[in-house]
Amino acid sequence: MSTYSEIVEREKQYLLPTYARYPLGLERGKGVYLYDFEGKKYLDLLSGLGVNALGHAHPRIVKVIREQAAKVIHLSNLYYNEYQGSLAEKLCTASGLARAFFANSGTEAIEGALKLVRAAGHDRGGERKSKVVAIDGSFHGRTLGALSITGQPKYRKNFDPLPGGVQFIGYNSIEDLHAAVDDETCAIVIEPIQGEGGVRPASVEFLRAAREAATRHNAALIFDEIQCGMGRTGRLFAFEHFGVKPDVVCLAKPIAAGLPLGAFLVTEELAAAISPGKHGTTFGGGPLACRVALEYLAILEDEKRLEQVQRVGAYFTQHLQQLVEKFEIVVEARGVGMMQAIELNVPAKGFVEGAIADGVLINVTQEKVLRFLPPFLLEEKHVDKGIKTLKKLLKTAQKEAKAERKATAVAG
Ligand SMILES: Cc1ncc(COP(=O)(O)O)c(C=O)c1O
Repeated sequence: MSTYSEIVEREKQYLLPTYARYPLGLERGKGVYLYDFEGKKYLDLLSGLGVNALGHAHPRIVKVIREQAAKVIHLSNLYYNEYQGSLAEKLCTASGLARAFFANSGTEAIEGALKLVRAAGHDRGGERKSKVVAIDGSFHGRTLGALSITGQPKYRKNFDPLPGGVQFIGYNSIEDLHAAVDDETCAIVIEPIQGEGGVRPASVEFLRAAREAATRHNAALIFDEIQCGMGRTGRLFAFEHFGVKPDVVCLAKPIAAGLPLGAFLVTEELAAAISPGKHGTTFGGGPLACRVALEYLAILEDEKRLEQVQRVGAYFTQHLQQLVEKFEIVVEARGVGMMQAIELNVPAKGFVEGAIADGVLINVTQEKVLRFLPPFLLEEKHVDKGIKTLKKLLKTAQKEAKAERKATAVAG
């Protein structure tokens, strides 16, 4: 077996340098914990970027993967498999939408949804009905289509020209929304809670206004629930919190408990824009991923995990809120369920490394936001451990920030 430094060196030599990894190699996991190559234990408050909602090595997930891998892993979409239709039925019934398409990632779910709304727009109003209204600060993925609706310059830079026909508006700006949405709009695309944007929830009023504008102009309302959906907020769909139903919802991350699977669900009316040959995938909707996704949904129910997300999430929120009161470098706490964050007024990267040293995994988004996307198995005692680590790190950072201010004042 390779040593940690051999693993690092090999990656440095052979991988495209897309990732700035933290100095940590992980070997295995169990429940809410991960273990490095020396066997050191880490509390996982990130769950593989919002993926491992059932933690690691859940016995029922391990069992169905074993069983299905021994039966058949992949079949393509030339043939029927037992699980794709059942998963579609389950998701459609739960969401109130009519049809599903399965892809392999969140980005692909977004790409498919964009194709669908453009095709439906053309059917409804000719080629002019193709404008997509997207949101500043949003993140929808890394392909050219997904980047074309991602409202953060840092992700788009260097990749021009991106597909056009997109107009960006301010998050939660009803005024912008009314000015942008017109009869040439084929879709409005919104994350009900922006994830990469810093765990920022939409306002109910904004989502309602988007619903009304979409209906008025015969456009589709797309919710990107890739990060906030599938139970992370304590409801299966984040839109349930807002009481606003989209025409399309995009899903991925936790949906197959760690296997790559993305999906978008649509109304019957929109589905009419697609016919065989217009869209497809080799891997998407395979029997292994779909069976595991069905098991994921069954486990959420059997183990009452959504209730746990609500209960422990509220406890987490309460404790993060106390950090805002206690530390002046903590500006705000935001989030719901197992999607939480604190915004600092100092760079947050050092906190991630400090937390790793203390056996806790968290991450940073937007430079100053510490983000937590824990598994739904999280209990109050795990929150306590995370908060203890954060307090320790915040205390040190606050002292340093004060000393720096003093030094600057003296120098000035
Ligand atoms: C809201 C949102 N949409 C789309 C994506 C892209 O998903 P993926 O990385 O699975 O392609 C992400 C990933 O972080 C996301 O958070």
